[in-house]
Formats: sequence, C-alpha cells, structure tokens
Amino acid sequence: MELLHTGKVRDVYADGRDILLVASDRVSIYDVVLPTPIPDKGKILTQLSLWWFEQLSDVVPHHVISSTDVPAEWAGRAVRCERLDMVMVECIARGYLAGSGLKEYERDGAVSGVALPPGLIEGSDLPEPIFTPTTKVPPGQGHDEFMTFAEVEAKVGAAVAAELRRITLEVYRRGSRVAAGQGIVIADTKIELGFAGDGSLKLGDELLTPDSSRFWAADEWKPGAAQRYLDKQFLRDWSASLTDWDRTAPGPEIPDEVVEATRNRYIEVYERLTGSRWR
Ligand SMILES: Nc1ncnc2c1ncn2[C@@H]1O[C@H](COP(=O)(O)OP(=O)(O)OP(=O)(O)O)[C@@H](O)[C@H]1O
Ligand SMILES: [Mg+2]
Repeated sequence: MELLHTGKVRDVYADGRDILLVASDRVSIYDVVLPTPIPDKGKILTQLSLWWFEQLSDVVPHHVISSTDVPAEWAGRAVRCERLDMVMVECIARGYLAGSGLKEYERDGAVSGVALPPGLIEGSDLPEPIFTPTTKVPPGQGHDEFMTFAEVEAKVGAAVAAELRRITLEVYRRGSRVAAGQGIVIADTKIELGFAGDGSLKLGDELLTPDSSRFWAADEWKPGAAQRYLDKQFLRDWSASLTDWDRTAPGPEIPDEVVEATRNRYIEVYERLTGSRWR
C-alpha cells in the first residue's frame, strides 16, 4: 500500500482505487504532536466518525466503503473509503464564536464576509449558524484563510458553492441537535467534500469528531471567556501548568494519570453522543 499522506493524527494510504484513512493514537495540542499516545484514541474517533456518517447519510452521501475490510493490525482505527477528488475548500459551520472566527469578528465584525451583530464576545451564540469556509492549504504551506462566499463561487462555481453551504449548515444543525440532547455544545465544525467518480458530491474525511469540531460542556457554557473544551481539557490544563514548555515542538511527555484522564474523556464523549458503551 502506498502512503499518500501523514497528517498530525492520521495516515492516508492508497489501496488500488480506494484509500485507507488510519487514525493513530497521536494527540496534538497547539498543533504540536506530543510524544505520548492516548491509548485507543484513534479507534474512538474512527468509530465516532463512522456513527455520524451513518446518522447523517440522508443529508449527504459519504465516502465510507467498509470499516471492516481493512488490514488486521488496523482493525477499528482504519476506514476503507472511496477516493474522492477533494474540493479545495474547508467547509466550516459556526454556531458560536471562538478561535479564528472570534479573531476575524473582532477585526472585521464579520466572518468569511458574513456580517454579525455588534457586541458579541468569546463564546457567544450566533443568531443562526453561518458558513465560514476557508482555503485548504497543504501542511507546511501556510495557514488556512477565510474565504467569502463569492470567492468560493469563483473557485468552484455557483451551483457547487451553494451545495457546499447547504450541506455544511445542515450537517451542523443535525449534529448540534443530537449533541445538545447529550449536554454537548458543538461550537463549530469542519467538513470536507469531494467529487465521486460519477460526479456527485460526497462527504469525505472525518465527521463531527473532537478533532474536527469544538465540543463544549453545555452546562458550563458561559460567554466571556474560553469555554471548557471537552476531551483535550486535561491536556491543556496540565500543559498550562508546565513552566518549561513554550508550545513549540518537541512537546513534553504526558504523565500516566493525565493520559488516563484524557482517554476517559474521549470515551465519555463517544458514549454520550452515540448512546452506546465503549466496549
Ligand atoms: N475520500 C477521500 N478521498 C481523498 N482524500 C481524502 C478523502 N477523505 C479525506 N481525504 C484527505 O485526506 C487527508 C487526511 O489527512 P489528515 O486530516 O490526517 O491530515 P491533514 O488535514 O493534512 O493535516 P492535519 O489534520 O494534521 O492538520 C486530507 O487531506 C483530506 O482532505
Ligand atoms: Mg485534516
């Protein structure tokens, strides 16, 4: 099998006409991959993504071919997928203001050209979910930048742009509704779409995972400061307590109890969202 790509967390292989997306147990904070893995993290996120693809299959067809027809050593963490011609736009939906969206709003009063009311603060919920696409920049070649809808239209055509927006917002709305029932706020999420061999648009990559979305504890949501971010919170809190790490590579080794607490949190999110137990 040919290794096409190594991301911070996942490896992508070509297998004939298919691709295999393999999620490792690597964890990154502040874009630095730490030397200590979180056992089962790759499997948990892979299974969560598969569950969401199934839940949302009436919104948009997806790239999954099989979660079981994969090499034995990657069982549970690999997914065999249809190789898509990826649209070079990262499709982001936001229902709350955080991260780069917040920065953009503070500067321009708008995100991706979508004007927002004045007076919003970190963590504010938006009047309605908005589509805030960015460029998709290959790793190491700079950062993703916000695109206006007109720029997306210029890049992919008006009809495809409209589909990207419709699908992204619908995925966000549906995902948020499910998560809200389990006490989880999805502040924002990123999806990736691509063209299948027959020319149709399909959902690729991963779906509504803690790596592609911001998940907050709903009962602690309080605009005005950084929110308690599920999953990686233990890691972030612990790393904030380190006086000798400047948030650049190489990252520090993670102590056992922090590994365990982080793993438990990933499991909790999986179990709350899917309603099934993690074996
Ligand atoms: N069905 C598919 N067909 C072709 N490419 C796909 C498909 N699904 C996902 N991809 C691509 O596979 C790659 C997955 O890489 P991954 O997310 O692990 O790393 P990355 O996004 O390049 O970097 P990182 O996530 O570390 O910032 C992405 O470039 C994504 O667009
Ligand atoms: Mg990625």
